[in-house]
Amino acid sequence: MITGNEIRRTFLDYFNKNGHTVVDSSPLVPRNDPTLMFTNAGMVQFKNVFTGNETRPYSRAATSQKCVRAGGKHNDLENVGYTARHHTFFEMMGNFSFGDYFKDQAIELAWNLITKEYGVPEEKLLVTVYSEDEEAAALWRKIAGLSDDRIIRIPTSDNFWSMGETGPCGPCSEIFYDHGEHIFGGPPGSPDEDGDRFIEIWNLVFMQYEQLDKDNRINLPKPSIDTGMGLERITAVLQGKHDNYDVDLLRTIIEASAAETGVDPDGENAVSHRVIADHLRSTSFLIADGVLPSNEGRGYVLRRIMRRAMRHVYKLGSKDPTLYKLVPALTRIMGNAFPELSRAQSLITETLKLEEKRFGQTLDRGMRLLSEETDKLADKGTLNGEVAFKLYDTYGFPLDLTQDVLRGQGLSVDTAGFNAAMELQRAAARKAWTGSGDLATEKVWFELQERFGGTEFFGYDTETAESQVLAVLVDGKEVASAKAGDQVMIITNQTPFYGESGGQQGDHGLLFSADGDEIVIRDTQKKLGNLFVHIGEVSRGTVKVGQALEMKVDSVRRSALRGHHSATHLLHEALRRRLGTHVSQKGSLVAQERLRFDISQPRSLEPEDIAVVEAEVNERIRLNAEVTTRLMTPEEAIEEGAMALFGEKYGEEVRVVSMGGADSSTGSGFYSTELCGGTHVRRTGDIGFFKIVSEAALASGVRRIEAVTGQAALDYVSLQESQLAAAASVIKASPAELEARISSLMDERKRLERELTDARRKLAASGSGSSATDDVKEINGIKFAPRILDGALAKDLKPTADEMKKQLGSGVIVLIATNEGKASIVVAVTDDLTDRISAVELVRAGSAALGGQGGGGRADMAQAGGPDASKAPEAIKAIEALI
Ligand code: ALA
Repeated sequence: MITGNEIRRTFLDYFNKNGHTVVDSSPLVPRNDPTLMFTNAGMVQFKNVFTGNETRPYSRAATSQKCVRAGGKHNDLENVGYTARHHTFFEMMGNFSFGDYFKDQAIELAWNLITKEYGVPEEKLLVTVYSEDEEAAALWRKIAGLSDDRIIRIPTSDNFWSMGETGPCGPCSEIFYDHGEHIFGGPPGSPDEDGDRFIEIWNLVFMQYEQLDKDNRINLPKPSIDTGMGLERITAVLQGKHDNYDVDLLRTIIEASAAETGVDPDGENAVSHRVIADHLRSTSFLIADGVLPSNEGRGYVLRRIMRRAMRHVYKLGSKDPTLYKLVPALTRIMGNAFPELSRAQSLITETLKLEEKRFGQTLDRGMRLLSEETDKLADKGTLNGEVAFKLYDTYGFPLDLTQDVLRGQGLSVDTAGFNAAMELQRAAARKAWTGSGDLATEKVWFELQERFGGTEFFGYDTETAESQVLAVLVDGKEVASAKAGDQVMIITNQTPFYGESGGQQGDHGLLFSADGDEIVIRDTQKKLGNLFVHIGEVSRGTVKVGQALEMKVDSVRRSALRGHHSATHLLHEALRRRLGTHVSQKGSLVAQERLRFDISQPRSLEPEDIAVVEAEVNERIRLNAEVTTRLMTPEEAIEEGAMALFGEKYGEEVRVVSMGGADSSTGSGFYSTELCGGTHVRRTGDIGFFKIVSEAALASGVRRIEAVTGQAALDYVSLQESQLAAAASVIKASPAELEARISSLMDERKRLERELTDARRKLAASGSGSSATDDVKEINGIKFAPRILDGALAKDLKPTADEMKKQLGSGVIVLIATNEGKASIVVAVTDDLTDRISAVELVRAGSAALGGQGGGGRADMAQAGGPDASKAPEAIKAIEALI
């Protein structure tokens, strides 16, 4: 039996032989189309090649494209498991001509592959053409030799293919396979066409137009070809099966599911196994392409698919996480063709396990509630919308999951009632909501969030993306468009721009269109948890609601932000290790130029602490180990030893960022583990170099550390170096000699000061340099020596007085230094007189005369000051009067 993998290989080899370049499947999240939820056809990655907006080095290509059809124009989610051919995930094999060959060669290539390479008997095949396309009908007659009754003309949109509301489109021609009389159904266009006997296996689209909007369609630059053949369908034909789920690509997973749950793969529970197999494929491929479960956009579609699968696992009687155990079966069968599956295997496994654990907690209770309610219902009854809403709101049951359960029992849901209950809750939230800050603008965010949901954030994986403008605000009010010069705020459906949060500043960058519109973004803010607001100015052209824009983050700035953020985590851990685990984060700023980190810490950091912390962070940087990000429950994260972020609120899952390499001291896999929503380097080596630039008290018990990394750290060090060189050149030394030279200069200076003091003292004691003084006189038999020293220093007075005491032998000395209008006064009394005269009393009298008060010292030496130097003679007189 030919395997699915061989059928894919044959297809690609065949077209390669026929001049086609084999191109890899593009990711499931379209990079080039903001309006598409998932890649849903092979031509998606070539959309701009068809329209002429992009050129490639080839004009013929062939792919086997991963497709997801769940949500959007092509949505098959509801039917999966119940029919032979619906899938949320499938592979579309296709050949493409970009203005190279057209209808005739497309038909010839297809016919030869099917009948010659794959060996499908001609009599089992018939085709359809668009009713107006006589050319195609004639070609089928000529090339395939088909008789007219096997060329069926279809007048409806079934034979006019378009990618979505807009984009390339054209008439198409489909090849059908007849599975035989034993299966009910009629050929296409007949009343019984919905039966399963005649199955479309290949669609050839003759791309000729581009749909611009509802009313406008233009010609493509050149007629082109886009074809699509479902790998699962052709495999069914070639493996002699009627049902896609019986082919090896899916059967392998169904058997793994049966083995894991112990439930017969083909009995009454066959539907559950089929759903599980299909959903495991879409889930795993979506995760491998960067989608993670969330309550928004693509993440919510993923979550819905996962939870539907989990409900079927539950139905099979499995109470423990099971889906994740099936991942190896998938990787075995598809990992060779899609290496991204093997690369992401642990991420897929972890994500599934987490979602199964979380949902497992409410699934059982929700299912019991649901069965109590359905027991009350009659045949073909309708479940109350409020109950469905309660299941959604309290138990995490997406509406389609509830519908899926009911479908099995022939029941349905009152969706209008469900929507009404949802609206009621929204209204209550609106009422309960009290904004913060500028109420008018805050209210706008609330309304926008209600209307559009949150913004899908791509910025962990990419710095560029194409997005659709949902709202434009000027002066806080919604407008339809804005023009060059306008200050705007822009909301898009998805974005690579990081909105300020967790201390990390918002991204800057450019939004632009192919028509030359350009908006410079100078800040990105996150409102109400998930609404990203791009703030900037229209610099060229206009910006309009509904427009598609390229979004490009300022990559140099983002890279500096990443470095500073990752370094903050390493710094946090290094501080805890050096100072103790009392260190916790009190605040953090991650900017382009620097990082700022506030910690609880009672004392200042010693220079040695700083040196040790800095060295340790740099050592971890140089280890250059990978930085890993995982989603976990808060409980698991705490078990992992994650440090929580300051003031952050947590949803049902947390993002855990670990880095710094293995840690031998604790045996943990990582040096640092924190809950964090920020953007980080891939490997710590990307941080480059880390330097602490300051440490200071911020508040009592809180220290603030500032540091720089990468280019900012180099800039800082070069600045220090040039300052050092400048300082060295002033004293004509090299930086290396600077310390020795400065300390010898300081010694020299001390010596000179000492000499100067001595000289001054001698000068004062010897009498010269004084002014307006009498010489020593005698009062009541006591020698009295007063002196006013203009410009002398207060600190010189006491030594001078001591010197004078020696010269005088016995007596009272008064010295007043006057300096810049103020005075200092010292009174000295020789020891033989201290029982009669107190220097303290005298100095107080002197100080009072100088306009001051107080003064202190001992009976033999006292000192004071006063604000009015001009009163120095009066001070002397006042003291003299007391002797
Ligand atoms: N784009 C075409 C399809 O999806 C081939 O059917």
